[in-house]
Amino acid sequence: MSQVPHITFCNGQKIPIIGLGTWQARDEEVRQAVQLALECGYRHFDTATLYQNEEAIGDVLSKWISEGKVAREELFITTKLPTIGNRAEDVPKFLTTSLKKLQLTYVDLYLIHFPVGCKGKDENDLQPRDSEGKVVLDMSTDHKSLWKAMEEQVDAGRAKSIGISNFNSEQIERIMKFCRIQPANHQVEIHAFHQQRELRAVCHKHNITMCAYGPLGAPYKEKTKEKTVLQDPVVTSIAARLGKTPAQILLRHLIQLNIVVIPKSSNPERLKQNFQVFDFKLSDKDMRDLDNLDQGKDGKLFIFTESMIGVENHPEFPFKIPF
Ligand code: A2P
Repeated sequence: MSQVPHITFCNGQKIPIIGLGTWQARDEEVRQAVQLALECGYRHFDTATLYQNEEAIGDVLSKWISEGKVAREELFITTKLPTIGNRAEDVPKFLTTSLKKLQLTYVDLYLIHFPVGCKGKDENDLQPRDSEGKVVLDMSTDHKSLWKAMEEQVDAGRAKSIGISNFNSEQIERIMKFCRIQPANHQVEIHAFHQQRELRAVCHKHNITMCAYGPLGAPYKEKTKEKTVLQDPVVTSIAARLGKTPAQILLRHLIQLNIVVIPKSSNPERLKQNFQVFDFKLSDKDMRDLDNLDQGKDGKLFIFTESMIGVENHPEFPFKIPF
């Protein structure tokens, strides 16, 4: 049985500290990645309705379970409610679809993917756009009733834990006031250039664990920056000294901060390498040097207003305030 180090949620549930991210991996690519990840020892997989790969992931997982190679209880599966489902009455419907595609009776963690609600034509219209290319917003998004519907999924045993993604500190504080079951985990962009110190402090105060998406600094993103996080000289020099790769250093940095990481890779060599981060430890000095790479807001790579034109007009757009 694979033993992956874990952190513990406020409700006692354990999440493996590393999982396989699957955004932008579809069909055969994701099938191969999940298969190989399971062979390497990964037990935590992160997907979403939006990624449109739940079916392929479910195929591989169910094969492993039915062949007795892994028990369901050893796996940790996260999926996410799409923005077009950000309405109380839509939560059970979207989770039912996800469970069916994943061939599971429950997910370990169900997240609200983004605090903004959108209006789709149907369940498959996951990124609704109007004739001008603007995102079709549902201005009536109500987090209180939405969260209640999320809590009901825990009551029904369809999600072990529930959480949020891309929420800001004010939205978290609001949820904490009205929740009956609190968010167990908050998934946001975190990497060495964008360390989210203030938001981490808010989550820490409420005993909400954090999961970093884009932990390698999303190197596929063509940025105007001179160097990607993976190419930063502080990162590469620590890597060279310790005989590790820059990716391993970046992942280890977050792991030592008690942050769950979900690096995405479909490349066998990189996927294996990303999991080999438990045989070394960064010194306090290396941790400090990596901490000092933080660029705050300037280090943010995921700019939602570019891919969701007009999203900033929604009352729940999370990035209007500093954190
Ligand atoms: P690939 O799938 O070809 O490996 P993030 O999780 O920060 O969003 O980064 C994911 C991106 O980083 C993917 O494009 C992935 O490409 C690439 N990647 C994953 N692991 C590594 C690694 N160990 N070294 C360099 N690039 C990596």
